[in-house]
Amino acid sequence: MRFTVAIDGPAAAGKGTISREVAAHFGFAHLDTGLLYRAVGLRALSGVDPLAAARALQPRDLEAGDLRSADVAQAASRVAAIPEVREALVDFQRDFARREGGAVLDGRDIGTVICPAAEAKLFVTASPQVRAERRWRELTGTGAQTTLAEVLEDVIARDRRDSGRAAAPMRAAEDAVMLDTSGMSIAQAVAAAIAAVARRLPAS
Ligand code: CDP
Repeated sequence: MRFTVAIDGPAAAGKGTISREVAAHFGFAHLDTGLLYRAVGLRALSGVDPLAAARALQPRDLEAGDLRSADVAQAASRVAAIPEVREALVDFQRDFARREGGAVLDGRDIGTVICPAAEAKLFVTASPQVRAERRWRELTGTGAQTTLAEVLEDVIARDRRDSGRAAAPMRAAEDAVMLDTSGMSIAQAVAAAIAAVARRLPAS
């Protein structure tokens, strides 16, 4: 069976957790497409041309240990605004999406540009304050030294860049199910996402 679940939304809205849990529940493969841009961003920080980095990207680059830092997130959002970089990453994402057995992809433009024909689409969001708090807890949990105010500033800057760019701006597909997780626990958000995907599965 081929079945694509597209999960988009802004930074720290809960896409990652929801996508992993949805994939585990249905036995689908999962691709966090943010890691592609983070891996290119990491290379760009060390002086490599972003387009060359995108063209040379290998699956093992997604396992680099330092992809989750705030600096790499900002670098990712900068290289993600370059149309040719995005173009170089399209085939990898589409091949993943159409693999046998089902796939969940999370990102910013999965339901609009990468997989406009995805069988299920979700747009996961939450208020900037709630998202900054979640990300701050995550970052300080890994030992990073940062304040909530700095994280909020980063989240807002990245939202602005991601939704304001000309190439594949972040936006909800018209047929996406909207999921605002601001007042939800992780378990509630995951349950809502699983229910939305289950409604789109072919009856067996
Ligand atoms: O985990 P978080 O939501 O903070 O970020 P991410 O999903 O890892 O994405 C990092 C950056 O990559 C985003 O701010 C976007 O600029 C970019 N990105 C994108 O443009 N398109 C995607 N499909 C995924 C990420």
